[in-house]
Amino acid sequence: MRTPPPAISPFLAVSALLLLLFATSVAANGYGGGDGASSGPKGNGEQEGVYHIPAYEKPVKGLDAGFYRKSCPEMEGIVQKAVRKAIRDDYTLAASLIRLFFHDFAVQGVDASVLIDEPKKSEKYAEASRTLRGFDLIEKIKKEMESKCHATVSCADILTAAARDAATAVGVPYWPLRYGRRDGKNSIAAEADLHVPMGGKSVTDLVRFFESKGLTIFDLVVLSGAHTIGRATCGAVKPGLCKRKDKPALLDRRYGDFLRRKCGAGGDGEYVELDGETPTAFDNQYYKNLMHGRGVLDTDQKLLLDSRTGDHVRAFANQPSQLFVHQFARSMRKIGEALVRTGNEGEVRRKCSAFNY
Ligand code: HEM
Repeated sequence: MRTPPPAISPFLAVSALLLLLFATSVAANGYGGGDGASSGPKGNGEQEGVYHIPAYEKPVKGLDAGFYRKSCPEMEGIVQKAVRKAIRDDYTLAASLIRLFFHDFAVQGVDASVLIDEPKKSEKYAEASRTLRGFDLIEKIKKEMESKCHATVSCADILTAAARDAATAVGVPYWPLRYGRRDGKNSIAAEADLHVPMGGKSVTDLVRFFESKGLTIFDLVVLSGAHTIGRATCGAVKPGLCKRKDKPALLDRRYGDFLRRKCGAGGDGEYVELDGETPTAFDNQYYKNLMHGRGVLDTDQKLLLDSRTGDHVRAFANQPSQLFVHQFARSMRKIGEALVRTGNEGEVRRKCSAFNY
């Protein structure tokens, strides 16, 4: 009697796929284990150093690596210098800039709509935006940009470059960007509260949100890995703690006690590290934490238990960190290019916090 071939578990299949993706990309880009963070722009569109991320997968109408080559060759340098200095002065800004970029993307793609400052009306004043940070830095960069290249560089491009530079400053491999995004002409608080994924969502909600933006379930798991750095307020953590009480699969008992003590003692504004083990390292510890029931956010922990996302979580937890950070850069580039306004759409704002009039 013939023995049946061994079944390949979905987990092994995903791991193998991840390894293959990584190896292909390494072969194409000559990864040498160098410090991606130290690679940087050399003029607009020309980069030096070792690249981990392939140049561009497919063209996006209106976006071009050389978009500012003639009109503002110093664009990338201005952003990078300011972001690096700001993060040197306050490391927590790196996470905040990455999150700001994601929230902007969540409402009609990256169009800087989150930066508009219209009290009670604009996205910035939505409940979902309450703890966003980094606005002042982007406005400061814009001011310098205006003095060097008047009415040329959009706030959406500045925010995209700032998020990339924040990520590379904390160890994510550098990825080249294409520019030409235009700034949106509306910003409505209610839309942010409707679209930006926050606590309390189910995995199905999250999958729907990502797929509605042209992203995949894999991107959802990869990008959620941003929670390997940064902080959450107790106000965001507490509701999930109650729901997960007495459910060991959803929350490690001792870790739950720790979170309850910490959030019980302080108010809703108290901070908890999103990755309690290696809070400042951009690594795959976030996925390892989920494996041990130590996800700070309920929405994160659920990714392990859901059949659509669990294998990806296990694969990232069990493979070297490099695999995750490499993929993170790719998915970040994807959100920077999904649903953007280009050409004659929108405008190039003079100030990032206000529409032109
Ligand atoms: C998938 C659905 C997601 C949900 C439900 C979610 C939810 C949250 C919540 C509740 C917080 C804490 C906010 C606070 O209390 O201040 C947070 C923080 C954060 N999120 Fe997410 N998030 C999601 C996806 C993402 C993505 C895709 C990124 C980036 C690519 C991201 C980046 C961050 C970062 C970096 C922080 C820490 C911010 C800081 O320290 O200032 N999140 N997220």
